[in-house]
Amino acid sequence: MAYVEFKNVCKTYQVGEVLTKAIDNVSFEIEKGELVTIVGPSGSGKSTCLNILGGMDNVTSGMVISNDMEISNFNDKKLISYRKNHIGFVFQFYNLIQNLTVMENLELAASRTKEKKDLNKLLDQVGLLNKKNNFPSQLSGGEQQRVSIARALAKSPTLLLCDEPTGALDYESSKQVLKLIEETNKIYGVTTIIITHNEAITPFSDKIIKFKSGKVVSIEKNKKKVSIDDLEW
Ligand SMILES: Nc1ncnc2c1ncn2[C@@H]1O[C@H](COP(=O)(O)OP(=O)(O)OP(=O)(O)O)[C@@H](O)[C@H]1O
Ligand SMILES: [Mg+2]
Repeated sequence: MAYVEFKNVCKTYQVGEVLTKAIDNVSFEIEKGELVTIVGPSGSGKSTCLNILGGMDNVTSGMVISNDMEISNFNDKKLISYRKNHIGFVFQFYNLIQNLTVMENLELAASRTKEKKDLNKLLDQVGLLNKKNNFPSQLSGGEQQRVSIARALAKSPTLLLCDEPTGALDYESSKQVLKLIEETNKIYGVTTIIITHNEAITPFSDKIIKFKSGKVVSIEKNKKKVSIDDLEW
C-alpha cells in the first residue's frame, strides 16, 4: 500500500438543483517523502482533491488512504484529530491570524500537537527570526507565506499540503517560498503536495499529477529532478 492513495474517488457537490462532479473517478499513489506537484486548469478538481486529503472535505465515493489510515471512512471526530496531528496546510492567501504576532501564530499551531518543535529554530530556518514579534500586516506577502510554512511545520505534520502557495507572490518571493518547500521536504522528509498553475516549476518535484475536468489525465515520475535554484520562468 502506498503512503497516500486515492482509489476511484468521486466528489459531487450539489448546490440547489445543480450537481457538479468536482472529481470523477480519481486514482493515484504517493510514496512517503515524495514531493508532488498537481497541475491543471481552473475548476479541474485540484483543490477538492487536496481538501479531501487534508480531512477538510469528505468523498462521495471511493477510498482515500493517508499514512496507513483509511480517512475516507473517518467520522468528523476522527477527521478533527487527523487534521490536528497529521496535516500542515499552506493556503494561497496565507491565512495567518492577524491579531497574533508571527511567534504567537506558530505557538498556537504547535500548542495543539504532541510533538514539540523548536519554534525559534524553525523561524530562523525560514529566515524570519528577526521578525518574530511582528504582526502579519507588518510583513510582505512572501514573508507571510514563509511564516505560514513555518506554522504548518510547527505541528510536525506527516503531510504538507500547499494550495497554490505562490499564487499571490512575485517572482523572487515565489522562488524563495518554493526553495523553502524544497528544503523542508529534504530536511524533514515530510511528504509534500503542491498545487500550482505554473508548469515551469514541476521539474523540481518527484511526481507530476495532471488534472483535467475532474479527472487525472497523467501521472509522471520525474527522473531528472531539477533544483528550484536552476529553474527559470
Ligand atoms: N464547496 C463547493 N460547493 C460547490 N461546488 C464546488 C465546491 N468546491 C468546488 N466546487 C466545484 O468543483 C469544481 C472543482 O473545483 P476546485 O476548486 O477543486 O478546482 P481547482 O482545480 O482547484 O480550480 P482553481 O485552479 O481555480 O483553484 C469546480 O467546478 C467548482 O465550482
Ligand atoms: Mg483550487
